[in-house]
Amino acid sequence: MMDGKSERKVQYEGKLAGAELHLSTRRRPQDNPTQMVAVRAPAGEGALPARNPLPSLHKVRDNGLARTPPMGWNSWNKFASRIDDATVRSIADAMASNGMKAAGYTYINIDDTWEAGRDAQGNIQTNKKFPDMKALADYVHSKGLKLGIYSSPGPNTCAGYEGSYGHEEQDARTYAAWGIDYLKYDWCGARTLYTDEEMPAVYQIMGDALLKQKRPIVYSLCQYGRLDVWKWGAEVGGNLWRTTGDIRDAWDSMTRIGFSQNDLAPWAKPGHWNDPDMLEIGNGAMNETEYKTHMSLWAILAAPLLAGNDLRSMSPEILAILTNREVIAVDQDKLGRQGQRVWQSAASTATSTNQEIWTRPLSGGAFAVAFFNRAAEPSTISIKWADLKLDGKWKARDLWTHQDVQLTAPDYSVTVPPHGVVMLRLSR
Ligand code: GLA
Repeated sequence: MMDGKSERKVQYEGKLAGAELHLSTRRRPQDNPTQMVAVRAPAGEGALPARNPLPSLHKVRDNGLARTPPMGWNSWNKFASRIDDATVRSIADAMASNGMKAAGYTYINIDDTWEAGRDAQGNIQTNKKFPDMKALADYVHSKGLKLGIYSSPGPNTCAGYEGSYGHEEQDARTYAAWGIDYLKYDWCGARTLYTDEEMPAVYQIMGDALLKQKRPIVYSLCQYGRLDVWKWGAEVGGNLWRTTGDIRDAWDSMTRIGFSQNDLAPWAKPGHWNDPDMLEIGNGAMNETEYKTHMSLWAILAAPLLAGNDLRSMSPEILAILTNREVIAVDQDKLGRQGQRVWQSAASTATSTNQEIWTRPLSGGAFAVAFFNRAAEPSTISIKWADLKLDGKWKARDLWTHQDVQLTAPDYSVTVPPHGVVMLRLSR
């Protein structure tokens, strides 16, 4: 299967038992297997529905939401299909009480696998993992948090569940009635019916449908950055749009995504953000230094901060990374400008990567400066302030040690651990 632009091989083991095919697969060798049962369908069932005509394009009004990048949690990275009502409630409990809510995290987003089919009137149904979505939303709201949900513009979602195709307005009404505050809308199933060039019109249908609801609903586009979505995502009503294929809890995946966002900076602005995908912080396959790099890079990128780990059982160290308020303040800076690379060490090879300096302009004339060491050995990174059109006469604060720093001029050097970062905030 295609994972963004790269091919991912997935092996399924299957056993035919009468009219049922019992399938089992693992996303990664260390994961528990995902079990599926395929049932023989009557002839003709499962054929593609007819293509609905597409609306002509117009500019969808800004919904006024997400003036800073959304912060919250999403179920997919850690739980995938093993998410249910009880887990969502306990994650909301954790977020409300562990300091994350106080640090700005708000959205509890249910990803794929909550959907069942439709009733006789075409209303989307929840499956037995989510017995009462309205009650769940009420519960999450009672914690002072917001609830997000997931669907696809296609007949089915990426995981093969019911999509919103042909029921867009009806689904938007249902979400609003349930008390949903955020929708992630994932292309997957739509690609069997529409071409990439038709994406803006397809996404506009749901953009319009959400705006018609009395309830404010953040609109998150997920189509892996195809067709340069950053150029049209805001016009179809998007508050954020994924810019890449799926992230994995791995240094290579996280850095390949994070460090490739430089050219997209001009399209990020209050209400409309590039989304390099959800956080993997705390999922276990990177070390704490690497997770600090992940958090710092996402903050420099003005990226949504959607934690993707089990908030109920993380270590104090992981919680401290996710709730570092000085780094969050960079991410959430009101100016809403995405940072960019200002310097990179000599060309990297496949085996030895490099050092990079990124800056992000902040409100009040301040700057965030991040010194990233992508190499596996410690590295001393130096900057000539003049090259950044700055001088050394700034007040500086180290956002990970939480200490004021004395800058030197005209050069300044820091030693950065392997795969690490030093992140400063500069102000007058
Ligand atoms: C796609 C998305 C993921 C996740 C899954 C769910 O792969 O990119 O973020 O939502 O679908 O099936």
